[in-house]
Amino acid sequence: MPSQDKLVIALPKGRILDEALPLVRAAGIEPEPAFEDPHTRLLRFATNHPSIDIIRVRSFDVATFVAFGAAHLGIAGNDVLMEFDYSELYAPLDLGIGRCRLSVAEPDDIAATDDPGQWSHVRIATKYPEVTKRHFAQRGVQAECVKLNGAMELAPSLGLCSRIVDLVSSGATLRANGLKEVEVLAQISSRLIVNRPALKTRPGELTGWIEAFRRVVGEGAAR
Ligand code: PRP
Repeated sequence: MPSQDKLVIALPKGRILDEALPLVRAAGIEPEPAFEDPHTRLLRFATNHPSIDIIRVRSFDVATFVAFGAAHLGIAGNDVLMEFDYSELYAPLDLGIGRCRLSVAEPDDIAATDDPGQWSHVRIATKYPEVTKRHFAQRGVQAECVKLNGAMELAPSLGLCSRIVDLVSSGATLRANGLKEVEVLAQISSRLIVNRPALKTRPGELTGWIEAFRRVVGEGAAR
């Protein structure tokens, strides 16, 4: 099959892939062996289905590839979906993986005089500027966001900001960097996402795979 006609599934790199891959396999999709080769520079992989390829991209980019129709299906956290708010994305299924929180954190030794109730403005380092601005705007605070793509736990101690908004799972990264979680913006988990226009052009194929993932998640929940 010509590669432009294949169904493309976008999977996120990093920690979440360890949880996502067993679901993909249980749904009946097996990537070629190179997918698990840590040295490979390949980014697109064949699968046991001649009509399906898998791409492996950064978690934020999964949403972008699927929203633009470059991939048809993907797995993305609702943190990413909240940040982009792409209307072309349909997120029919909570996969129950990648559970964590999107939270505000501050230094353990923050000055007692720094009272959030008195703020009109706050500077925050985050990968989520849109979610952060919306959250603080609800209480009349203007959030000036410094966009970082990782290691934001470093930013307060180096004077880049007074608070951060980031994902928190065990809390170990915050603790190791002298920070504490002070407010939860959202509970996070990963969803199956689908390109809406593709649902019209390839309906049978896509609804078939959505149902396959639904069965896998249902079986996991029943166990
Ligand atoms: C995430 C997040 C925190 C950390 C939180 O980063 O950005 O840094 O995990 O996890 P914890 O509460 O269990 O310590 P990740 O390790 O996924 O890498 P990233 O910075 O590349 O996103």
